[in-house]
Amino acid sequence: MTSTVSSLGKDLVGLEGLTAEQIRSILDTAEPFKEISERRIKKVPVLRGKTIVNLFFEPSTRTRVSFEFAEKRLSADTVNISSSGSSVVKGETLVDTARNLEAMNIDMVVMRHGSSGSARFLAERIPSNVINAGDGRHEHPTQALLDLLTIRDHRGEIAGQKVCIVGDVLHSRVARSNIYGLVKLGAEVAVCGPRTLLPRGIEEMGVRVFDRVEAAIEWSDVLNILRLQLERMEGGYVPSLREYNHIWGVSSQRLAAVDRELLILHPGPMNRGVEIDSDVADGPHSVILQQVTNGVAVRMAVLYLLAGGTPDSAEAAKGGKEA
Ligand code: CP
Repeated sequence: MTSTVSSLGKDLVGLEGLTAEQIRSILDTAEPFKEISERRIKKVPVLRGKTIVNLFFEPSTRTRVSFEFAEKRLSADTVNISSSGSSVVKGETLVDTARNLEAMNIDMVVMRHGSSGSARFLAERIPSNVINAGDGRHEHPTQALLDLLTIRDHRGEIAGQKVCIVGDVLHSRVARSNIYGLVKLGAEVAVCGPRTLLPRGIEEMGVRVFDRVEAAIEWSDVLNILRLQLERMEGGYVPSLREYNHIWGVSSQRLAAVDRELLILHPGPMNRGVEIDSDVADGPHSVILQQVTNGVAVRMAVLYLLAGGTPDSAEAAKGGKEA
């Protein structure tokens, strides 16, 4: 099967390799797709006849379900595969799994995998379009795109916004993709967390570093708060979760110390009472559930563009034209 090579290229493995214009084109394409999810019948025939495999080798709620909704709302045929239910547990390699799926004439693979670089590895070995749904600590491009769309919805522009990513940056593919996207679109970007949870040399990505969450809050327009990825930690990166919350947790008391309204983002899953307190997560400036809603539109946009659609044709496509 031959793949479509779109204005994004064949695959979406990360935001590092995209231009600002390509990132903007995805966000602009997502705009008209938002409305489809609000219809009574949430379906348009844009990807009719396309077959998409969702290959998830790590747990996921938001990304997996969001991709599946996006695919179904664009009328693609979808198959979901998890590592525990596949022949991977019998020792089959990733490439053999994908090649066997391709032998059944698929068009796209959406993959989440625990190994950094696995999305590119697969993309270079199969002709189907590959979309990275999170690979190890490397990138999670559609999460960053939905974060960008949510910030743009509320602030009009990404450029000039002061965005601080707070928490476990070291293990976070979300942080890396956000930094690439935000810097390319002209935001001022910072990170904040214990030094044990910040990658060495993070400043080289064009970000400033805050050692105190109070100082980060004082500087920021937007906070994107990350959970501690305990499943990727082997040692004691923080003394205890209670102490982490005491020193680094985003609380309403800390936010009340500044007289600006910060936009609060979190990619999920949240650990309430650790990196974020419930009154912040559920508070008036939280856009955490809007991020989830925007995730469907962003993923529709990525699928549509990789299938050969263009930002200019997205509005017409909603009315029935196929990509
Ligand atoms: N944000 C995110 O990737 O969540 P899931 O792990 O639930 O997909």
